[in-house]
Amino acid sequence: MKHPTGSIRISEQADGDGLLDFEDAVVDGLSKVRKSLPCRFFYDERGSQLFEAITLLPEYYPTRTEIEILREHADEIVASIPGNAVLLEFGSGSSTKTEILLEHCPPTVTYVPIDVSPSALAEARQRLARRFPALTVTPVIGSFTDPIDLPPTLRSRPRMGFFPGSTIGNWTPEEALTLLRSLRDMLKVNGRMIVGVDLKKDAQTLVRAYNDSAGVTAAFNLNILARINRELGSAIDVASFRHEAIYDPRQGRIEMHLVSIREQTIGICGRRFHFLAGERVHTENSYKYTVPEFQELSRRAGWLTGSVWTDAGSQFSIHELISPAHA
Ligand code: TRP
Repeated sequence: MKHPTGSIRISEQADGDGLLDFEDAVVDGLSKVRKSLPCRFFYDERGSQLFEAITLLPEYYPTRTEIEILREHADEIVASIPGNAVLLEFGSGSSTKTEILLEHCPPTVTYVPIDVSPSALAEARQRLARRFPALTVTPVIGSFTDPIDLPPTLRSRPRMGFFPGSTIGNWTPEEALTLLRSLRDMLKVNGRMIVGVDLKKDAQTLVRAYNDSAGVTAAFNLNILARINRELGSAIDVASFRHEAIYDPRQGRIEMHLVSIREQTIGICGRRFHFLAGERVHTENSYKYTVPEFQELSRRAGWLTGSVWTDAGSQFSIHELISPAHA
C-alpha cells in the first residue's frame, strides 16, 4: 500500500496505525505476574526524538563509538557493494550512520530505510535528497520484523542489510537467532549484512549508558506511559513511576524497568491493573556480547561470518555477515 508521502507501508500497520496491536500488547503485558511492556512501542514521534537525544549523551557511548568505527572503515565495509544494490536498513531512525556508508557507495544504489516512525523517515529522506541528489530512497513504514514486500523493480537486485545501533541486543539470544534467520531469508539474494553489536564491559559503564545524569533515558522509558495515556485514553500519573536500569552479568544484559513509586490501581481500556509500591514493569533488555559469542549466534542462524571491526577501546563491534548463497 502506498502512503501519501510516497513511502510503502507494511500492510499489517495499515489499519488504524496498529492501534489495536498496541492496546493488545499493553493489556497483555500488564496482565502478567511479572508485568512488562513491549519495547517496540517506545518509538512514537516523541519517543523517536528522545532516542535521538540519547544518542548524543556523554554517557551513551554506543552511537558515538559505532560512528567512529564506521568512519574509520567505511571503505572496506562497502567495498564489495555492487552498483545496482539495494541497501536495506532495519530501524533506520534518522539515518545518520547510513550517510557515512552512502558517501562510499556507488551513487546508483537504492536505499530502503525501514522504520515505525513516519516523521523520522520523512525527515531523513529530505536530508538525504539534499545531500545525495542522485540517490533513490524508497522508505518503508513499519516494523522490520514483519515481512517486507519490495517493489517489483527492486526484487531481483543484490541486497545488503544494515542493522546498526545494537538493536539486535534488544532481543533475547533465542529471539535474535530467529530474527537473524529471517533477515538471512530476506537478504539471501546475493546478500550480505552489516550488524552493530555492543560488547560486554564493566557494569558501571553499562549502567551509566542507560541511566544518564540528565534523565533523558528516564524520560524515554517513561514516555511509553505517556503514550498509553495519549493513545489509549488512560490517565496514568507518569510521575508515580521512576526509571531503573540494572546490569545482570549472568545474562549479559541491561534491564530497563519502570518502578511504581506507590501502591496504585490504573485503568486502561476498561481494565484495572494493580501495582504494589516498588513493583516493576520490565520494558527493555539490551544484551551485550563478546565478538565470538555474536559470531557463534550468527553461524547458528545460517550466516557465514566475515570481517569484524571494533574501536581501540573494544567497546563496540561491527560484523559483516555473508549469505552462504553469495559466498
Ligand atoms: N538499541 C539501543 C540499546 O540497546 C536502544 C536503547 C538505548 C534503549 N537506550 C535505551 C532502549 C533506553 C530503551 C531504553 O542501546
